[in-house]
Amino acid sequence: MNRIIVKTGQQEYPVIVGRGLEAGLGEELKALAGFEPRKLIVFSNRRVFGLHGDSLVRTLSTAGFECHVWQIPDGEEHKSLQCLENSIEFFSQAGLTRNDAVVAFGGGVTGDIAGFASAIYMRGIPIVQIPTTLLAMVDSSVGGKTAINTDFGKNMIGAFHHPRAVFADVGYLKTLDLREIRAGFYELIKLAAIGGSELLGLTARFLDKYPPAEFAGYFSLDSFESDLIELITSQIEQKARVVRGDQYEEPLRSDSGSRKILNFGHTVAHALEKVTGYTYFRHGEAVAYGLLAASEIAKRLEYCDNNSINLLNDVVSRVGGLPDASNIDIDTVFDALVFDKKSNGETVQWVLLERIGSPRIVSGNEVPENVVRESLHSVLLARASPDMTKE
Ligand SMILES: NC(=O)c1ccc[n+]([C@@H]2O[C@H](COP(=O)([O-])OP(=O)(O)OC[C@H]3O[C@@H](n4cnc5c(N)ncnc54)[C@H](O)[C@@H]3O)[C@@H](O)[C@H]2O)c1
Repeated sequence: MNRIIVKTGQQEYPVIVGRGLEAGLGEELKALAGFEPRKLIVFSNRRVFGLHGDSLVRTLSTAGFECHVWQIPDGEEHKSLQCLENSIEFFSQAGLTRNDAVVAFGGGVTGDIAGFASAIYMRGIPIVQIPTTLLAMVDSSVGGKTAINTDFGKNMIGAFHHPRAVFADVGYLKTLDLREIRAGFYELIKLAAIGGSELLGLTARFLDKYPPAEFAGYFSLDSFESDLIELITSQIEQKARVVRGDQYEEPLRSDSGSRKILNFGHTVAHALEKVTGYTYFRHGEAVAYGLLAASEIAKRLEYCDNNSINLLNDVVSRVGGLPDASNIDIDTVFDALVFDKKSNGETVQWVLLERIGSPRIVSGNEVPENVVRESLHSVLLARASPDMTKE
C-alpha cells in the first residue's frame, strides 16, 4: 500500500493506493482529522454499485456510518445539470448536513458530479473519492476539479473542491472493460508526457510487459498488482506535483508550472467529445486523439523534436483500440475548439510539447488556423498508426 500526500495550500489529504483497501477503510476514515460524519451518501452509478456496492456499504455500516445509497445512470451524458439537481435533492431528502459526507464511488463521471454536488450543497460538504476506473485513479479523483457538462461545452460549470481522502484500490480494475482500461492508459500517457522521460519510460515498459488487450488476465500473475500499484502511484505523484504548483489553475499563468499543462491533449479532446454528443468516445480516447493532434501541431510548427513526437506516437499506439474518427467533420471540430472553456477570450490556448517533460502553453494566435486544420485532418482521417485500430 502506498500513501501520497497531496498538498493544497494550507491543507493536505492522503491518496492511498493498494489492493484490498476496503478492509481498513472504516478505520482510515475515522482517523482523518476533523472528519466525523454520522451519515454518508454512497454516490455511485448503477453499474459500479451493482458490481461492488453491497460490500462497500457493508464495510462502512459495520464501521458505524449511516449509509444512504444514491445511484446515477451510467454515461458521460448524465454528467448534466439535471443529474446534479436530482443528486442534491437526494442529499436533502436524506437529511444530509454539513457534518456529514459524500463517498464518490465510481469513475470520473461519478466523481465529477459527486464532487460538484458536494461543493455546492450547503456551500460545501466533505467528500471522499473511491475511484474505480484507471482514469479516475490517476487523474480525476485527485486535484479537486469538479464539473458537469452543458450544451455550451464540457465541464463548463464546476468548482474546485478537494476530497478529504482518496482510496485507489486496483482490485476494482478487474471488472473494468478493456475499452475503459485503454481509455485510462491514454490519460496516463498524457501525465507521463508532461511529467518526463522517466515516467513515460515506466509507462511504456508497463505497456510492453502487460499489453492492455489481456489486462484482466494479468491479475493472476504475482508481479502484476505491485507493478500496477507502482505505476499508478508514480502517476498520482506527478499529478500531485502539478496541482501543488497551481492549485486553482490561475487564469493568467502560462508558464510551464501552470496547472493548464494537465490540459495537454484536451483542447481537441473536448471538442471531439462535444461534436459527437459525449457518447461516441470514451474521454480517454478523445484525449488520445488530442495528444496526437497537439503533437502534429508541434511538429508542423517545429516546436518539438521528432524523437519526442515519435516516442509519444509509439506509446499511444501500444495501447491500441482507438475508435474510427474518419467520419468526423473537421470544420465542426474546429468550430467547437473556439468555444472550449480553455479559451482565453477569443483565443484558444494550446498545450504543446517542446520535448517529453517540457510542455509549453501557447496562445492560439501563435497557431495558424491552417496548421490546426491540417493536423486534425492528418490525425483524424489518416491516423498515426494502423496498430491503433487493432483489438
Ligand atoms: N476532475 C478532473 O480533474 C478530471 C480529470 C480527467 C477526467 N475527468 C472526467 O472524468 C470522466 C471520465 O472518467 P472515466 O473514464 O472514469 O469514465 P466513467 O466514469 O464514465 O467510467 C467509465 C465506465 O466504466 C464503468 N466502470 C467504472 N468503474 C468500473 C469498474 N470497476 N468495473 C466495471 N465498470 C466500471 C462506468 O460505469 C462507466 O460505464 C470525464 O467526464 C472527464 O471529463 C475529470
